Amino acid sequence: MDSELSGSELGTQEYWESSYNREIRNYKSHGDVGEIWFDEDSQQRVIDWLLKQKVDKKSNVLDLGCGNGMFLVGLANEGYDHLTGVDYSPKAVELAQNIAGDNKLNITYKVADLTQPQDELGTFDVVHDKGTYDAVSLCPDNPKEKRALYLKTVHKLLRTADSLFVITSCNWTEEELEKSFAEKFVKHHTIPTPTFKFGGKVGNVVTSVVFRKL
Ligand SMILES: C[S@@+](CC[C@H](N)C(=O)[O-])C[C@H]1O[C@@H](n2cnc3c(N)ncnc32)[C@H](O)[C@@H]1O
Repeated sequence: MDSELSGSELGTQEYWESSYNREIRNYKSHGDVGEIWFDEDSQQRVIDWLLKQKVDKKSNVLDLGCGNGMFLVGLANEGYDHLTGVDYSPKAVELAQNIAGDNKLNITYKVADLTQPQDELGTFDVVHDKGTYDAVSLCPDNPKEKRALYLKTVHKLLRTADSLFVITSCNWTEEELEKSFAEKFVKHHTIPTPTFKFGGKVGNVVTSVVFRKL
């Protein structure tokens, strides 16, 4: 697929840094953890699916573009304890570390730009993305190349061909994700999400798809 989304400030590191800077202030002043992207249901649907699949609680899980880290907090509350979150915004990592620390949860957070090789992070059984590929796709500067670099990094972060890459997107349909990922990943499962009807066609507000690497 060659069509690109129009560039937006949501595709820039400066935007996220100032946004999480504000969220840290809010968190410190009144304990608000900040935005959970695409609402808590989107996050819970993925957690419920992992639980239903009986994904081992000892699995190494990586959250890409973790933001405030609430997805990992949700997994930690279910008993997962090998949890890592990365984000290219140091302020996001600071916020996530504060939230995990205050909740006495053992979650590792690191600053990492996923459009760069990240070999030192190691490899993981489950790699999760909610809204991060969307943000990368909105980069005002060469989004096609950024998307390809991101997918190359994700491919290397998956431990084996059985490892899972779970992605939730609001900018791309399932078909578009499958097409863009076809060189490196194969669809394993679709996590059902709410649908809407418009002009006789049925669409999804968000898409959650599980891929495995080729
Ligand atoms: C829409 S937010 C989603 C945050 C979180 N995943 C959630 O669901 O609440 C996108 C996140 O991706 C991060 N991000 C964007 N591009 C990135 C990149 N190249 N490397 C690492 N993180 C990135 C942003 O800093 C931001 O935290």
